[in-house]
Amino acid sequence: MGRATLAERLRIAGCVFADDEAELLLTAATTPEELEQMVRHRVRGVPLEQIVGWAEFGGLRIAVAPGVFVPRRRTELLLQQALLLAPPQPIVVELCCGSAALTVAVASTLQDVEVYATDIDTAAVQWARRNLSRLSGSAVALEGDLYEPLPHSLAGRVDLLLANAPYVPTGSIELLPREARLYEPRLALDGGADGLDIVRRIVAGAKRWLAANGQLLVETTNGQASATTAAFERDGLASRSVTSDELDATVAIGWLANVTSQDKQSGAGH
Ligand SMILES: C[S@@+](CC[C@H](N)C(=O)[O-])C[C@H]1O[C@@H](n2cnc3c(N)ncnc32)[C@H](O)[C@@H]1O
Repeated sequence: MGRATLAERLRIAGCVFADDEAELLLTAATTPEELEQMVRHRVRGVPLEQIVGWAEFGGLRIAVAPGVFVPRRRTELLLQQALLLAPPQPIVVELCCGSAALTVAVASTLQDVEVYATDIDTAAVQWARRNLSRLSGSAVALEGDLYEPLPHSLAGRVDLLLANAPYVPTGSIELLPREARLYEPRLALDGGADGLDIVRRIVAGAKRWLAANGQLLVETTNGQASATTAAFERDGLASRSVTSDELDATVAIGWLANVTSQDKQSGAGH
């Protein structure tokens, strides 16, 4: 199948970046039969990344597969903020890690980092382990509910606690693009009635794990930012939020309330 024909099939199926996608599929397929299979999946709405087996995140290739959440470009704001706030030799925990794109990007950029990534979904943890295995330093993916699988020895020692947890309100799931609605696990998307059920549980548990100067960074949306930072304050964390129009992204950042925001941004105390 020629590139132009392929792009036309994808365009008719509603793929906005049909030319780029055609190029990627042509590169990924090893036989004409495999290409045809890939195109059929894509026309049905399967995310391109799940078809070709990788997603780009933070300039890295992250392995993903059908049934695993595809890392989003907007989550690079969380990555940028984490890198800005990281002290030397940090202990980093990512909750709700999915494929562990964020953890891999943080650990690939920072020196002497100790990272732990957790997810409740067996398939996600399997792909997280695969992606983390590329790292040379200490990196572990653990299966379980939020903090539950973390070693107790980490309590009070976590410098960066990161989470892109499910935050779509249950009633809005049906409004998502079919790629997400049909081909990503509901567990990865559904954040309960107002979208903040899991985020509130993360915030409630954070104090036990954060180091004195540790930071909690949670992806949210512009519309949910004030409710998210209110949850931080309710649980004794000072907070602020950062927004990027370019990435269409918002991150809520919290820290133990007795340390000032200025200390936090200068990394004082580490
Ligand atoms: C929106 S996806 C984000 C994945 C990854 N952080 C990323 O940005 O690519 C949310 C992830 O949270 C996981 N998750 C949902 N509920 C969880 C829970 N109670 N404990 C741990 N992980 C959970 C899902 O399995 C899914 O992988």
